[in-house]
Amino acid sequence: MKLTAGSVPLRVRRAVEMLALRPEQAVLEIGGGTGAAASLICAQLKTGRYLGIDRSEKAVAASRQRLAGFVDRGTAEVRRAALEHTALESDGPFGTAFAINVNLFWTRNAVDELRSIARVLTDDGVLRLFFEPPPGSPAQRIVEQVSVNLAKAGFESTCTIQPLGSSLLVAFHAVSANH
Ligand SMILES: C[S@@+](CC[C@H](N)C(=O)[O-])C[C@H]1O[C@@H](n2cnc3c(N)ncnc32)[C@H](O)[C@@H]1O
Repeated sequence: MKLTAGSVPLRVRRAVEMLALRPEQAVLEIGGGTGAAASLICAQLKTGRYLGIDRSEKAVAASRQRLAGFVDRGTAEVRRAALEHTALESDGPFGTAFAINVNLFWTRNAVDELRSIARVLTDDGVLRLFFEPPPGSPAQRIVEQVSVNLAKAGFESTCTIQPLGSSLLVAFHAVSANH
């Protein structure tokens, strides 16, 4: 991942639009990188709050710098943590959790990680997972693998695929069936 702060890729702008956040919402992002999505989200939040976790120290540092004003106001927090090694219960509940281009959700069995997200969602909370497949790589594999993982973790999900410039955006909308 290129660690340049400032620009916001089209996939991120589109994904944040699709989140359709309200200003009072609590939002959790997994793998937020340099804080591109967070910068758009925090500008929309009034009483709401944003927590971003990322396992990369460099990404977290860049994100904290980018979000400095929001961090100072208490709207944003960015933490270095790998989803599979962190407990988020005391940080919840979140009305929206999301991730953009975080491969673990389709490259491996991510059931435990997805269950840990389900535990911190509100009863009407939503998990959104977005992927821009690399050029030439079929979206179908992502759709299948993520769908299986979500179902095993107790989520009911729908998936849409839309054009994104010369690429595609695969977008999942998931709610926990256990609520
Ligand atoms: C390809 S980048 C995407 C960054 C940003 N979401 C975007 O779309 O531009 C993936 C990010 O997820 C983070 N990441 C990958 N696996 C993770 C995990 N298990 N827990 C937390 N962060 C993770 C990486 O450190 C990286 O910053």
